[in-house]
Amino acid sequence: MPTPLRFGLIGCGHQGRYLCEALRCAGPHDLVACADPDEAARERAVAQFGFAHDYESPAKMLFDGGLDAAIVATTHDQLQPCAMAAILSGCHVFVEKPMALNAEHGQALADEANRTGHKLMVGYALRYRPDRVLMGRMLAEGVIGDLVQVHAGQLIGSMGGWLGKARHGGGPLLYVGCHALDQILWCNPSPVTRVYAEEVPSAVPGVEADALLTLRFADGCLATLSTSQRLGGRYGWLDLLGTHGRMRAEWESYRLSVESRKMAAYSHLTHLDVAMTDFVPALAPDATSTLASYYYVRMWAAEMVEFVSAIQEDRRPAISGEDGVRALRVMDAARQSAETGQAIALRET
Ligand SMILES: NC(=O)c1ccc[n+]([C@@H]2O[C@H](COP(=O)([O-])OP(=O)(O)OC[C@H]3O[C@@H](n4cnc5c(N)ncnc54)[C@H](O)[C@@H]3O)[C@@H](O)[C@H]2O)c1
Repeated sequence: MPTPLRFGLIGCGHQGRYLCEALRCAGPHDLVACADPDEAARERAVAQFGFAHDYESPAKMLFDGGLDAAIVATTHDQLQPCAMAAILSGCHVFVEKPMALNAEHGQALADEANRTGHKLMVGYALRYRPDRVLMGRMLAEGVIGDLVQVHAGQLIGSMGGWLGKARHGGGPLLYVGCHALDQILWCNPSPVTRVYAEEVPSAVPGVEADALLTLRFADGCLATLSTSQRLGGRYGWLDLLGTHGRMRAEWESYRLSVESRKMAAYSHLTHLDVAMTDFVPALAPDATSTLASYYYVRMWAAEMVEFVSAIQEDRRPAISGEDGVRALRVMDAARQSAETGQAIALRET
């Protein structure tokens, strides 16, 4: 039986508390301390999880020590500095997406984790939707042949609060579009060689209302990414088009649609309903979380199981710092493209 890990939470808002709840699905780990400058947020976290210590400042919490790992779920501008401080204090880190505001800062974080031997995992949770896991497996098995095009979108309604402010890293691309981007990159490990982007600005300077990206991969695959905060609700999709067929998954549906000229079973468009427990890491037998039974948040539980397993097995987490940097490089290029009107060449390492 592995020793329970001692966790600190940095950022006690909605997602930080969801992730603590999700952590309970990964076994009896100790939620020791939390930090947030917002007293009300801290109080909610203490009431919900019984943290023995709470701090206004993450620096003070990390200085006091006694932690094995930290969950970082702050506003976007604070993710990288807080995650960096946690690594420097000796913690393994689970950091929410987008991990940093640009690739340079993301790379510095990934480098520090590698240098110090700490695990760093980025919260691209859509990878843990069972329909997407099955999609990835079928792609790898050649069900639709070689990937020719990928079309993904993740869209949301009007973004207020810090999510609408440039200095906090607001805007739909860094908030939800990055999930769709990660899905595209996850499907195709080939280097991205060119990025072109169109943006429609919002009323707030430095924050886009809409963004459309076109990506070209070294293997000849093309991809598009759509994101917006002008939609009435949340929509998302991932379409894979291959030399022998196609697959489609949609946000908030656990249905995977498959059509393949290679496999008789899918010679006509077939809709597979994927159960929420299929293809994702099993929860600890003593999981106590109420989240465990919800479709929507089940992916966060799977993430936490993976993060804890990576620490205990001393291996790289499934969604690494390098994966986070790869997405940030594309988003940096998209920003530059939208500003200049030019396609931006990338040399992925
Ligand atoms: N993976 C997902 O599915 C998913 C879903 C929602 C949000 N998120 C991500 O989670 C993160 C947090 O989003 P949220 O919805 O919880 O926002 P939120 O506003 O509810 O919470 C953010 C909290 O961070 C605190 N904070 C700000 N600066 C801090 C600092 N320096 N130290 C400690 N705390 C600080 C704020 O006071 C606030 O309480 C973001 O990165 C967001 O993109 C991920």
